[in-house]
Amino acid sequence: MSRLRARIIGTGSHLPEKRLTNHDLARMVDTSDEWIFSRTGIRERRIAAEGEYTSDLAAQAGRNAIQAAGIDAATIDLILVATTTPDLIFPSTASIVQHKLGLSHTRMPAFDVQAVCAGFMHALSVADQFIRAGSCWRVLVIGAETASRIIDWNDRGTCILFGDGAGAVLLEAELDGERGLLSTHLHADGSQIDLLLTDGGISRGPAPGGGMGVIRMQGNEVFKQAVKAMESCVDETLAANQISKEQVDWLVPHQANIRIIQGTAKRLGMPMERVAVTVDRHGNTSAASVPLALDEVVRDGRIQAGQRVMMVAFGGGFTWGSALVRW
Ligand code: UT7
Repeated sequence: MSRLRARIIGTGSHLPEKRLTNHDLARMVDTSDEWIFSRTGIRERRIAAEGEYTSDLAAQAGRNAIQAAGIDAATIDLILVATTTPDLIFPSTASIVQHKLGLSHTRMPAFDVQAVCAGFMHALSVADQFIRAGSCWRVLVIGAETASRIIDWNDRGTCILFGDGAGAVLLEAELDGERGLLSTHLHADGSQIDLLLTDGGISRGPAPGGGMGVIRMQGNEVFKQAVKAMESCVDETLAANQISKEQVDWLVPHQANIRIIQGTAKRLGMPMERVAVTVDRHGNTSAASVPLALDEVVRDGRIQAGQRVMMVAFGGGFTWGSALVRW
């Protein structure tokens, strides 16, 4: 029986110009480069300029993925944007991105997916379902954030972690192809929202200090949950594909903390040379982190055709998910 599979035919990313180093942060809060680097693996992160929005980063990452794929952008059937930091409450950032890409005349659907740091895995899985069902031929999936806009710059437990950026993949349906998305796996557990959330919003009203709210996190607890969830997702993905960990060539994990990444790599018995790491330069870019890291290892030629790539992420909600791709 014939079947459709989603193949990644192009990747792209985009980062704001401005770098915020650990030394810069040490002048803002009671911290040090040594503490931040040893606990997280982060050296610096990028911060969007005033007037630079999530949709700007997303659109540029999208353009780069379209260019890498070498396709006519007007043939895209669907745009998905995973973000926790949309330009506005509404319309969706995906609608704004569609327009910024000059594609509104196509009338293609475009919508956002919200699963915080696991947002890209969720958007990728949604795109995969559309392609497998035969509803879409080409889908642009973007993860983009301006996390800096929801940071309490006086909270040393969170302000050192996050950064801004965007990454994208262009998916194309292929009939009976060997390459592409082999499986995706998504999960949520809404029972522990107090461990990682914003302290203000829309229906609940503004934050105590006013405004849309900032990230509040019990880092230590989140750390433990992240390690557990990412390890179990890796196991689930191996089992679903009936492969052993030795058959995975690359790990592209969410970039929250190098120690979480090392834990997931260990579960796969994966040497760190086979793990995409950008956390040192990008910090945690939430929904953008997996596609940003993926774009780096694709563009510098480290990932080769035919290799198996495991992507996995964990975030607020809690939400977590993975995807296995044959490149
Ligand atoms: O992306 C989605 C999910 N997010 C994550 O996965 C993040 C997960 N969490 C983490 O990465 C880590 O928990 C952090 C990096 C946030 C914190 O590292 P930790 O090793 O878990 O530290 P901790 O929260 O247990 O704090 C240890 C100490 C505390 O001081 P006391 O109470 O022992 O005196 C903190 O006040 O470190 C202190 N501390 C800092 N010290 C210097 C917390 N932040 C800082 C800081 N600089 N920036």
